[in-house]
Amino acid sequence: MVRIGVLVSGSGTNLEAILQADLPVAVVVADRPCRALEIAADAGVTAALVERTSFGTDFDRLAYTERVIDALRTHDVELVVMAGFGTVFEKPIFDAFPGRILNTHPALLPAFKGWHAVEDALEAGVKVTGVTVHVATLQTDEGPILAQEAVPVLPDDTKDTLHERIKQVERRLYPDTIRRILSGEVEL
Ligand code: GRF
Repeated sequence: MVRIGVLVSGSGTNLEAILQADLPVAVVVADRPCRALEIAADAGVTAALVERTSFGTDFDRLAYTERVIDALRTHDVELVVMAGFGTVFEKPIFDAFPGRILNTHPALLPAFKGWHAVEDALEAGVKVTGVTVHVATLQTDEGPILAQEAVPVLPDDTKDTLHERIKQVERRLYPDTIRRILSGEVEL
């Protein structure tokens, strides 16, 4: 069984969906205290808080990346799943897990890259946005696309209503794509 490490920073609803899908999660790693850690604890899954010491210009991104690699290796992780993880990594993690780091992005890449994908789609006035599950690479939001699904933008949408509609799709598409990777149906 492939050992999965899930990286989280926030509400953890994707983590919840991954756990409910009975995927083999060996460890959950968070970069800050967050609800996702409570979800891991409630599910009886091992969790590690590898806390970011700074969000300022003095942040040592390389050292932080090495700390996360150590945490994942400690738990013999073979597949890394970013699920709302808020820290951008340096190169060593992409060398440590080549082609084995996944991400879900709340837009149809290559449109609306970056942290504000939902607001940016709203501001652009697009009628359709969506979800992209992809391989994460050093170039943020640019790795090979594994699955996509469209989500309509409704006339009275706010950032929150649109993001929730997108997340409902992510909570189905992300676990499903991981399951298809584990079964060999999708090749990394
Ligand atoms: C998801 O929309 C994901 O695409 C984005 O952050 C959100 C995470 O939500 N990167 P949650 O923490 O899984 O609820």
